[in-house]
Amino acid sequence: MEHFDLLLKNAHVVLPLPQGESLGVQQLDLGLKDGRIAAIGPRLAAEATEILDLTGLHVLPGVIDSQVHMREPGLEHKEDLETGTRGALLGGITSVFEMPNTNPSTTTRAAFEEKLRRAAGRCHTNYAFFIGGSPDNVEQLAELEIQPHCAGIKVFMGSSTGTLLVEEDVTLERILRAGRRRVIVHCEDEARLKERKHLAVEGAHARFHPVWRDELTALRATQRLLALARKTSRPVHVLHVTSAEEMDFLKTQKDIATVEVLPQHLTLEAPECYERLGTLAQMNPPIRDGRHRERLWKAVLDGTVDVLGSDHAPHTLEEKSKTYPQSPSGFPGTQTLVTLMLDHVNAGRLPLTRFVELVGEGPRRVFGLESKGRIAVGADADLTVVDLKKTRRIENKWIASRAGWTPFDGLRTTGWPVMAVLGGRIAMREDEILLPHSGKAVDFTSGRL
Ligand code: DOR
Repeated sequence: MEHFDLLLKNAHVVLPLPQGESLGVQQLDLGLKDGRIAAIGPRLAAEATEILDLTGLHVLPGVIDSQVHMREPGLEHKEDLETGTRGALLGGITSVFEMPNTNPSTTTRAAFEEKLRRAAGRCHTNYAFFIGGSPDNVEQLAELEIQPHCAGIKVFMGSSTGTLLVEEDVTLERILRAGRRRVIVHCEDEARLKERKHLAVEGAHARFHPVWRDELTALRATQRLLALARKTSRPVHVLHVTSAEEMDFLKTQKDIATVEVLPQHLTLEAPECYERLGTLAQMNPPIRDGRHRERLWKAVLDGTVDVLGSDHAPHTLEEKSKTYPQSPSGFPGTQTLVTLMLDHVNAGRLPLTRFVELVGEGPRRVFGLESKGRIAVGADADLTVVDLKKTRRIENKWIASRAGWTPFDGLRTTGWPVMAVLGGRIAMREDEILLPHSGKAVDFTSGRL
């Protein structure tokens, strides 16, 4: 009789249906062995070192958060790879792709390898790193983007936290011509940001954040990017899309552009969030009003959106309490992503299978993942187990990020991660990390172009 390391019984499993590519939910057993999913079936007759009955729970492919800022090296007073991935795992995330706006920025092979060295043996989730595209490293980008465990090249078109910035079309075009993988881009038009900065300074309240960084600031950058993507035939991934106008536009660009949204842009709304939370709700690109939020939801449901990430961007409460606009943009998000989205599932706004597409199939396709993001025989045994019926309050004291807070403090949500399996072993269960530091570097098929 077959012997598994871990046998998960009677779970509602979200996986591709045999008749096609679409996802469905079926009550099945999963046999895990040597870090992989070895067997899937109803009532598997097998022996196992450990058997768990998951009746009543749902098993999703390990949730991938493809946009996080872990602040190491250089800004460890906000977060580091250990604390950042601890929060992610407690929130039900099994892999994170980390952004290059650290100090120093990740723009050289040495800086990238230094991150891999620091991550080895310290991360609680799997991990990969983006490399920043800048005017100084264009010549090296084609080589850099195919380094093992590199998630791709990231470009900031508008300035945010850190010094990475590609302001000019000529530089952006050179970056798009260097290499072949999909380039991921923060789209805010720097020229318009500079022109309008006085609006934030004179207003001096976070409610002016979306006035300064308005929808045209986002749209202009996205349109400039897409014109260059077409000119160079380079696929792009537009991060954290916030505006109705961008979604209308991007819907017509799906042959070359993939699209990300964040839970906070689907959950919070201006001006209420700024009146209630002040600078705690400040992030780039900003949270906008209900018209935009509704359009983002439509795009999630009609297939325009490919990926959901957290943009986990921790800053300390002390830093956030500076007077606007000196206050830094961003807030922690990995730990709350899954429960916020499951709450939307429970509210009837989002099918569970669509959520799984956005954190599994989507990242798999957009970034070229070799063996993650899908429950299938042979895939890595990374799983997120959730209790769709569990109701609980999100609280600051639950947040493991060094920043120690969340803008969702006090919010009651229904649908919670209760377990995470990493490489076939139970890494997190009911708020406890059972297998610390078990994250491994992620491999990409597109890294072998
Ligand atoms: O709000 C943000 N914070 N947006 C970004 O683009 C960067 C991030 C950060 O690193 O703090």
